[in-house]
Amino acid sequence: MASEKSYKITMLKFGTVETVETERLRLRAWSIEDAADLYDYAKNPNVGPHGGWKPHESVMESFSIITDLFMKAYYSWAIILKEDDRLIGSIGYEKDPRRREINCLELGYALGEDCWGKGYMTEAANAALKHGFGALHLDMVSIYRNPENKRSGRVIEKCGFYYEGTLRKANLVYNGEVRDVACYSMKKEEYNALLCKGK
Ligand SMILES: CC(C)(COP(=O)(O)OP(=O)(O)OC[C@H]1O[C@@H](n2cnc3c(N)ncnc32)[C@H](O)[C@@H]1OP(=O)(O)O)[C@@H](O)C(=O)NCCC(=O)NCCS
Repeated sequence: MASEKSYKITMLKFGTVETVETERLRLRAWSIEDAADLYDYAKNPNVGPHGGWKPHESVMESFSIITDLFMKAYYSWAIILKEDDRLIGSIGYEKDPRRREINCLELGYALGEDCWGKGYMTEAANAALKHGFGALHLDMVSIYRNPENKRSGRVIEKCGFYYEGTLRKANLVYNGEVRDVACYSMKKEEYNALLCKGK
């Protein structure tokens, strides 16, 4: 029989994605009408490959990512820039295949290149952590990156994740390259301690 915790995680696949507001951003559930906006930033060859995924080749492909991954397999938000109501990226949780036995999800994100370097992803990631340890009752959040992806490394560092080490040659990506993986995590008690320090 599934434990209460694994039941909660399974429910995430189908549960309603709640809207989360930050100062400059709105994180909201994906809609099938977002395909063209997703394609707009995901076709850029400077975006996906940093996260290990292939640039999108058509609006139809972006549509399938929304319906098959963001809406089904992930607890995923579209990131909306409030000032102009524009969809600028994605952030969300998926199951962490390395940590199946605990109440942990893996955080992942991507942002349109024209929006890099303005602190948006750090703002979004902090909101996702608040929601993960709050409404989703997670005990741990993990995140992985290519060690060469320095920008993401800074986001992870600014959020306060614990660096666990680097698995060498452990991640096969879309183009057949096998990359090292820098591994990070945050436990609920560590998140609470950061909150107490006024993070
Ligand atoms: C990684 C990504 C989400 C970062 O988003 P962002 O909104 O630009 O991030 P922030 O602005 O919050 O923070 C970026 C930090 O990286 C720093 N940075 C930028 N270029 C850098 C570089 N070449 N080397 C080191 N740090 C760099 C910025 O100065 C900033 O740090 P600071 O606040 O201390 O100045 C965005 O670049 C992206 O979508 N990349 C492609 C997809 C991807 O890599 N996804 C993550 C997979 S793990």
